[in-house]
Amino acid sequence: MEDNCFNQTVFLVTLLLAIAASSVRGHSTRVGFYSSTCPRAESIIKSTVESHFKLDPTIAPGLLRMHFHDCFVRGCDASILIDGPNAEKTAPASQFLKGYKVIDDAKFQLECECPGVVSCADILALAARDSVVLTKGTSWAVPTGRRDGTVSNASDTDGNMPGFQDTIDVLKQKFAAKGLNTRDLVTLVGAHTIGTAACEVFSYRLYNFTSTGADPSINPAFVSHLQALCPQNRDGSRQIALDTGSADRFDTSFFANLREGKGILESDQRLWTDDLTKRFVQRFLEVRGSLGLSFNVEFGKSMVKMSNIEVKTGTMGEIRKVCSKVNEY
Ligand code: HEM
Repeated sequence: MEDNCFNQTVFLVTLLLAIAASSVRGHSTRVGFYSSTCPRAESIIKSTVESHFKLDPTIAPGLLRMHFHDCFVRGCDASILIDGPNAEKTAPASQFLKGYKVIDDAKFQLECECPGVVSCADILALAARDSVVLTKGTSWAVPTGRRDGTVSNASDTDGNMPGFQDTIDVLKQKFAAKGLNTRDLVTLVGAHTIGTAACEVFSYRLYNFTSTGADPSINPAFVSHLQALCPQNRDGSRQIALDTGSADRFDTSFFANLREGKGILESDQRLWTDDLTKRFVQRFLEVRGSLGLSFNVEFGKSMVKMSNIEVKTGTMGEIRKVCSKVNEY
């Protein structure tokens, strides 16, 4: 009897702790959060992204990557946007991020329309979705209601941001630490279907990787192609498509390239070496088979999970007036 009572108490306490933990984690974003407070918020962000995209299509992959970097460090709280000598944006992992101006532009217009209402963190999440749509991916509904953080430290990227030399086990761990499973990992890395990488992040695979030459996981015919694009000891900032042949279209050819040994980043190509990650890559490529998965559908689902990492809601954080600095009171 006493045992039963004890078990019941343990159960109740556990339940309460779980509820408290889930509200602290703040899974209370919802689709249409601004429908009464700033009804045009999503359309203002969309048209801003569109007008910048027309002038410079590279902002689409830029904004998608920016949202990922924001979410993996201190949660999706726009900490990546804060200026400062030791802020997150100064970290090596943030090198080559682009799209800051698009966010500032959208924020400026939103502050005119409905001051102090729409967070920079939500602008990032919505702009990432709009970027996928502009590159011919499938849309998804983005839950909103995030609030902005007030802290941004370059050192917080250490250990949180996945690295292009990480093993699959480390990548799985880093994603798991953010509540994302192996399926999410493969799906989200599929974002590399658009955009580019600088020669300096993968040239080490092309020259003296082993005593006999290039990384053996690269298709030998592709090695010479990449060596021509990134000659040894030349401009390391030169940008090369992550999805050869289809870098401006949100499709599954990135995964087909992995199957052919044409991954650009070491971490991308590794998705084809690990049994479990390889299985997901194959399922994206066999969309009509019984185990096939639609990359576009899965991408929206995994993005909603990623966009909810450690979000601040309710009375946490603030709504920044200018995305590059915390408010002054
Ligand atoms: C295993 C995890 C990941 C690693 C190691 C990784 C690493 C990288 C690296 C090194 C670049 C090249 C940056 C440059 O040289 O300009 C890059 C680009 C990019 N990443 Fe990732 N990434 C990962 C996951 C993701 C995820 C989850 C997303 C979004 C959901 C994403 C979106 C992008 C995009 C769109 C680009 C192209 C950026 C541009 O063209 O401006 N990445 N990534």
